[in-house]
Amino acid sequence: MKLFLDTANIEHIREINQWGILSGVTTNPSLVAREGKSMRDCLMEIAEIVKGPISAEALSLDAEGMLREARELASIAENINIKIPMTPQGLRAVSILSKEGIKTNMTLVFSSNQALLAAAAGATFVSPFVGRLDDIGNWGMSVVEEIVDIFDTYNISTQLIAASLRHPMHVVQAARAGAHIATIPYEVMVQMVKHPLTDIGIERFLKDYEKIKDLPSTKQETK
Ligand code: E4P
Repeated sequence: MKLFLDTANIEHIREINQWGILSGVTTNPSLVAREGKSMRDCLMEIAEIVKGPISAEALSLDAEGMLREARELASIAENINIKIPMTPQGLRAVSILSKEGIKTNMTLVFSSNQALLAAAAGATFVSPFVGRLDDIGNWGMSVVEEIVDIFDTYNISTQLIAASLRHPMHVVQAARAGAHIATIPYEVMVQMVKHPLTDIGIERFLKDYEKIKDLPSTKQETK
């Protein structure tokens, strides 16, 4: 499962990119708004750092508007794909964009039927929102499991991005379900690294090494 960062924050993207584990970035209008920059500036800065797929969201509600925005956003960098909401107009836009070779990420997906429609329209990615389903008392990850099953059965090439992930166990569950990609908030990515036994282990190794670090070597150097 590839790991994407779900943010528009440049410092966070730069930091996680340095770990060498980052395959892409997803943004949405709420995430960009938090940064107080224009969508275009934000995307240009992200594209300077990230070479993998970057999702940028179209905001029009009609297909014509979506197409106009999509073409404009896609021209910012060759690795930008366009997030289109799951609506009839959105499906129409995705099917046209896929024929034009513009990559799309069908967003705000909450059911397997919506994912099937996105795939039939030719979406490159489909993003089921796990956390928002959990928020209303549904088991969000079951939608990811179902979509993976269906896509596997029919050899569907649309890639599933497990989105709206809120905590580290969501990432584990998405991986076990067979999601192609998990898009992860910065805070969750940082939590994923941590384990108290790792910290205790490092402390103990450093303490034990103190006992021998000044001992001279008695062996001759060999060339
Ligand atoms: C990513 O594609 C989504 O926009 C994002 O994961 C939504 O997350 P949220 O439900 O926590 O806002």
